[in-house]
Amino acid sequence: MDVRVYEVGPRDGLQNEAQIVPTEVKIGLIERLADAGLRWIEASSFVNPKWIPQLADAGDVLAGLRQRPEVTYSALVPNMRGLQRAREAGLREVAVFMSASESHNRKNINKSITETLPVLAEVVGEASACGMRVRGYLSTVFGCPYEGKVDLNRTLSVAEALLSMGVYELSIGDTIGVATPKQVREVFSALVKEFTTERLAAHFHDTRGTGLANVTAALDEGIRTFDSSIGGMGGCPYAPGAAGNISTEDLVYMLTGMGYDTGVDQQKLAEAGRYIQQQLGRQLPSRVLKAHCADAGVPLQRREQA
Ligand code: HMG
Ligand code: MG
Repeated sequence: MDVRVYEVGPRDGLQNEAQIVPTEVKIGLIERLADAGLRWIEASSFVNPKWIPQLADAGDVLAGLRQRPEVTYSALVPNMRGLQRAREAGLREVAVFMSASESHNRKNINKSITETLPVLAEVVGEASACGMRVRGYLSTVFGCPYEGKVDLNRTLSVAEALLSMGVYELSIGDTIGVATPKQVREVFSALVKEFTTERLAAHFHDTRGTGLANVTAALDEGIRTFDSSIGGMGGCPYAPGAAGNISTEDLVYMLTGMGYDTGVDQQKLAEAGRYIQQQLGRQLPSRVLKAHCADAGVPLQRREQA
């Protein structure tokens, strides 16, 4: 495998859906993603269910899954309560998250950046002590919905704090999808110099249509792990206007055409996309999914069997 695709649709995608998707549909989606060869799947979030009611059933989703040994399932945890719930669900990997900009951090997790760091350090320390791997997310690196431009030095210092806590990899987030390839090159070349490509991933949202162009820019900087969401679902409810992540179907199509092996079966991936599209009852943004449905003559209908 040349490029690692980290599937975040069941979490980043479904957290932003207006409707609450039934638990068995979430499980059906995750099983289909694993069938397609995805080996890293962010299955849900152990956050405060009052803040993200769409994922309040995280424990039931993980309990209902046939957790396969070849797949790493993960979930967001914001604090020790979240870590405890993730442990009870049998997870071996979790992800902590915070923002490079003060205002988004406050809106999203109700704390300043300075207050957040010790909370996450405790989570990472405890998770590592019980043998779990911890991934990190740094949001709003390319722009903040409340503050606009974000200082690169701020990004570097928060990234340093998270990586030195012991997160094995830090996913660099364009939360509201404002980045363009030039900025992606600037940000990743600075990060790679400090932390090396092995400890970095890219998390692009495609709000303004620059998502895949940004992937090629990050590839040029040596990045080989990309987060994406089936169908291109997604967004952060605490970042107004944020649209979906880059779509997994589009990402895998492009990478395969560029000669990168992702280990993902495109036909089975299309089946996973069709499944969740039909369950949601609306056309999802993925271009490859759209083309697949047109080629297969599939109309968009409500509700297929789960
Ligand atoms: P808070 O209200 O400040 O928390 O929320 P608190 O510690 O004061 O606790 C308040 C109540 O919540 C207590 O219950 C706690 O037990 C409960 P009470 O005593 O009142 O009955 N509570 C919890 N319950 C279940 N699980 C928990 C938990 N924690 C507290 N883990 C908190 C602080 C961080 C918890 C809250 O702000 C929160 O849950 N925020 C999550 C927001 C979120 O999930 N945003 C979307 C994900 S981030 C994203 O999408 C960006 C990303 O994709 C990257 C990118 O695109 O850039 C990752
Ligand atoms: Mg996101």
